[in-house]
Amino acid sequence: MPTAVVTGAGGGLGRAIALELAGRGYLVHVTDVDADAAARVAAETGSGTRSSGLDVRDEAACRAIAAEAARSHGSLDLWVNNAGVLMTGDAWTQDEATRRTMIEVNTLGTMNGTIAALEPMRAAGRGHVINVISLAGIVAAPGEVNYAASKHAAMAFTLGTLFDLRRAGIEGIELSAVCPDGAWTPMLEDKLDDPDAAGSFSGKLLRPEQVAAAVGKLTERPRPILILPRWRGLQLRLLDLFPRLTLRLLPLAMSDARRKQRRYKKLIEAGRWPKS
Ligand SMILES: NC(=O)c1ccc[n+]([C@@H]2O[C@H](COP(=O)([O-])OP(=O)(O)OC[C@H]3O[C@@H](n4cnc5c(N)ncnc54)[C@H](O)[C@@H]3O)[C@@H](O)[C@H]2O)c1
Repeated sequence: MPTAVVTGAGGGLGRAIALELAGRGYLVHVTDVDADAAARVAAETGSGTRSSGLDVRDEAACRAIAAEAARSHGSLDLWVNNAGVLMTGDAWTQDEATRRTMIEVNTLGTMNGTIAALEPMRAAGRGHVINVISLAGIVAAPGEVNYAASKHAAMAFTLGTLFDLRRAGIEGIELSAVCPDGAWTPMLEDKLDDPDAAGSFSGKLLRPEQVAAAVGKLTERPRPILILPRWRGLQLRLLDLFPRLTLRLLPLAMSDARRKQRRYKKLIEAGRWPKS
């Protein structure tokens, strides 16, 4: 059976990804900074699944998990860097500790997991690292600026490392950046009234299972960047190309985002979304 490690898999997208991979026949190692949450998801995922407490800020711990997966199963086939944190607010209102946490988890955590996974994968000459980034990794995100900065860095790291693997003649290892629009997980559950988080509700809110299904397909057909949904990537990249136009459109775009956020709040509170 192929083996996979998923970080931050104690809930939200990571949990859905762990379940999707187990359904696809992977032996999944469910990890999270919250060891109990990881154990609960592992129990849900079924036989063969393992769990560990893993803080992705700890490079040595990431390396130990990667080495152990390769040692006990003969190979490490897939590593999903999913752990992430979002604190909203204007850049000048967030304190140094808040900025640091987002950079440490979202950027350094992604780097730690990738480097750790590449060690056994380079020895085997094959493997796949999937980094869950965000649309905030490809365009500026008003209200979520420090988060977006941490995700832009993770994006540059992911694509750049893929280029360097090919530059080094390593063809058997894939690296993918997954950039979902806002997804209904605990990350957003406390932000329905937060105007700074309106951008996360400005497109079509995704269900964790939708993101996980796309990640599942990506394991079959790897590609460097997967944007969910694709049209949002095109829309936002266009705005990114014309920053002066974006500045003019900003008041309109943000009030539309707030309107959608209020609409989602109503639907969710009335139990009309997500539909089962
Ligand atoms: N929810 C969204 O709208 C959305 C959209 C795009 C991208 N993302 C990204 O998807 C990923 C998963 O987000 P989510 O929505 O499921 O969030 P979530 O808050 O629901 O889950 C994040 C998980 O990461 C874990 N975690 C936090 N810090 C950690 C650390 N230092 N080490 C290990 N685990 C840690 C948490 O315990 C939690 O289980 C994140 O990288 C996030 O930035 C989320």
